[in-house]
Amino acid sequence: RVRAFASSAAAQAAVGRVAVIGGGQMGAGIAQVAATHKHDVTLVDVSQEALERGKAYMAKSLGRVAKKKFPDDAQAQGRFVDEVLSRVALSTSPAEAAGSAGLVIEAVVENIKLKQDIFAGLAAAAPEGAILASNTSSLPIAKISEQLSAARKKRFIGLHFFNPVPQMKLVEVVRTDEADQQAVDDAVAFVKGIGKVPAVCKDTPGFIVNRLLLPYMMESIRLLERGVASARDIDAAMKLGAGYPMGPFELCDYVGLDTIKFIVDGWHKEGKGLAGDKQFAPSAKLDELVKNGHLGVKTGRGFYEY
Ligand code: 3HC
Repeated sequence: RVRAFASSAAAQAAVGRVAVIGGGQMGAGIAQVAATHKHDVTLVDVSQEALERGKAYMAKSLGRVAKKKFPDDAQAQGRFVDEVLSRVALSTSPAEAAGSAGLVIEAVVENIKLKQDIFAGLAAAAPEGAILASNTSSLPIAKISEQLSAARKKRFIGLHFFNPVPQMKLVEVVRTDEADQQAVDDAVAFVKGIGKVPAVCKDTPGFIVNRLLLPYMMESIRLLERGVASARDIDAAMKLGAGYPMGPFELCDYVGLDTIKFIVDGWHKEGKGLAGDKQFAPSAKLDELVKNGHLGVKTGRGFYEY
């Protein structure tokens, strides 16, 4: 039976347990935010080690939130962090986690086959009427769900969060042609219930944010390649001249150069309406950095050194 959620509180009660598949930065961030807003959460990854890394990420981020929430009260800060973390169960079994979830959010690496396989298992295990969602940033939602039943497709959507998840207010709610209005409404209610702002959009490459951000990032890299200005000056220009919180190179390093390369290569090759678009043609500079393992902040070096 498909349930209708009348309000955020109702959405929270109705969604109940949230399963998040993938304990990397995005998955851990999503789990953290859902648990902060009183959802019971199961965070799933392939190993205990990966789960512990996800938990450490949450603890660190919650510590920052707690410091602002309870300034000068270390005890209250500790209680807050412990209380939120107590709502996050860790598991290595996606099926077990999905079995009791009203909403399952997948946040694993951008590999279409892997995502399709994961969702085949989740669809077999999740309660009828559960919302199945992918946090993909660049793969078509309809393609990820193409092997699922018509009933599952009706409640399959994109829920695209932004990095750092605890801080960024936006969540794109991506609707395929097959998703029904109720699923979209329920997803919107969930997003509002976790203190975020939803933007509903169609299932097109990059949705809204990345469709605008990637051309900007790529053109910044090409400015650098053409020798127009240094990375530092381009960053300073966009921060001080256009009011962006980070310059494009800081942002590329922050998002991860492997992620950026993966997105633009995919679109250039077969993005709907984007294949062959020269905005997304390979960049020698980006390719070289990625080839040498300089992926940005996470590896200690990208356009900058950290
Ligand atoms: N957990 C909790 N809070 C965090 C946090 C985290 N991981 N990271 C930052 N914050 C909070 C800080 O506590 C601080 O809060 P306050 O303003 O209430 O005191 C606030 O964020 C600002 O942090 P800092 O002072 O440490 O640093 P900055 O002022 O430089 O802000 C930033 C950091 C929020 C990351 C800011 O630089 C920013 O907004 N950058 C742009 C980020 C962006 O564009 N993200 C989207 C990337 S695209 C994407 O994710 C899509 C994907 O599909 C590719």
